[in-house]
Amino acid sequence: MPAEILVVCYSRTGKTRTLAQELAARLKADFREIIDAKDRAGMINYVLAGRDAAKELRTDISGADCDTAAYKIIVAGTPVWAWNMTPAVRTWLENNKGKLSKAAFFTSAASSGHERTLCRMEEVSGVKACCSESFSDAEHKKPQELAAKLDAFAQRIRQELQ
Ligand SMILES: Cc1cc2nc3c(=O)[nH]c(=O)nc-3n(C[C@H](O)[C@H](O)[C@H](O)COP(=O)(O)O)c2cc1C
Repeated sequence: MPAEILVVCYSRTGKTRTLAQELAARLKADFREIIDAKDRAGMINYVLAGRDAAKELRTDISGADCDTAAYKIIVAGTPVWAWNMTPAVRTWLENNKGKLSKAAFFTSAASSGHERTLCRMEEVSGVKACCSESFSDAEHKKPQELAAKLDAFAQRIRQELQ
């Protein structure tokens, strides 16, 4: 049976990818990782990445070019950069504007910028999220609590299938 849910994310250092893959496993969803053509590694690129996100720039992406209309729900996750979404996720959401019937969004951040980023994701995609969740980096150090939070988020998403 084809999957009803697609989980997409961009991840620079793996945290958002881990969250997205854990959600996809719980939801029996397809998973695609958005790849940013720009090299984001290293200190200088860190600064430039924050600047690109703050300026709300697009970037060249690959890896998650799929038929979003084939899914009932799209789950999109982004790291928070400079209190905003990453250029890769911005580009993906802009490219799919008007094509997402139902969407759930999540953010991964050291500490701050979740709410602002989730609002921006709704603006950019043109979809009000049916549900959303935010994860902080510190939560990865408490695997049992993180798993319970992922379970609850997945459950809320699953309910939106009905
Ligand atoms: C360029 C840049 C800007 C960031 N800006 C923020 C921020 O505004 N607020 C915050 O709490 N964390 C910020 N972070 C930390 C990341 O959001 C956080 O570590 C996230 O979980 C990383 O996800 P990833 O491992 O999937 O790349 C920033 C990280 C980078 C690289």
